[in-house]
Amino acid sequence: MRIDIVSIFPEYFAPLDVSLLGKARAAGILDIEVHQLRDWTTDRHRTVDDTPYGGGPGMVMKPEPWGRALDAVLAAGREAGPAAPVPRLVVPTPSGRPFTQVHAQRLAAEPWLLFACGRYEGIDARVVEDARQRMPVDELSIGDYVLAGGESAALVIIEAVSRLLPGVLGNADSVVDDSFAAGPMSALLEGPVYTKPASWREHEVPAVLLSGDHGAVARWRRDQALLRTAANRPELLAGRGPDDLDRRDLEV
Ligand code: ADE
Repeated sequence: MRIDIVSIFPEYFAPLDVSLLGKARAAGILDIEVHQLRDWTTDRHRTVDDTPYGGGPGMVMKPEPWGRALDAVLAAGREAGPAAPVPRLVVPTPSGRPFTQVHAQRLAAEPWLLFACGRYEGIDARVVEDARQRMPVDELSIGDYVLAGGESAALVIIEAVSRLLPGVLGNADSVVDDSFAAGPMSALLEGPVYTKPASWREHEVPAVLLSGDHGAVARWRRDQALLRTAANRPELLAGRGPDDLDRRDLEV
């Protein structure tokens, strides 16, 4: 997968060289390019923001540098011979649709993503309007809080997407049981996990996990997932049928 990122803080993306993502880049699974938005300004001060029309606090990112930046990244990506004629543009913003595991799975199927990271009060709305004429666009929020800019949200989205790419995680099974993943445990939070030693500071690993009874282990894990979901995210259970919430599931 090719990923281009445009930001006024390219150094924010140093973590993309660490751990799983760093290895995926070294292995050629991820081809990431980070671009400085100010490279597409034309004035001496490399200005990227201005006061908002209609008044109000803060500054808005000017459309011209963004327009030129997106055009240039598109042209360069095409020259580099990517797997797609246009990227999917992802704009992290608190005003976007909530980013979920479903988005992560859809984005992981794309050959080319382009992240536009805004700062201040956001990017002039005409930039997305103009981009939509040339490429698919997702405006995504990573949660109901306001960050100082789109950079940390882009990092979150890139990590969630990248770990789904074939060859990024050591064990392909490990994405199956993830909280929120599709499958038998879908929309349930993962329950507690344990490793050796079986006894630590007088806390014991639940006996069923040492029993070797795979059916009992699977039932226990599902029960724990339901209990944790009921405690921490009850709204996720609201749409489930009674067979999902029978007495056996709710026994500890
Ligand atoms: N930029 C600022 N806050 C954000 C949020 N919650 N999600 C995505 N991008 C953002």
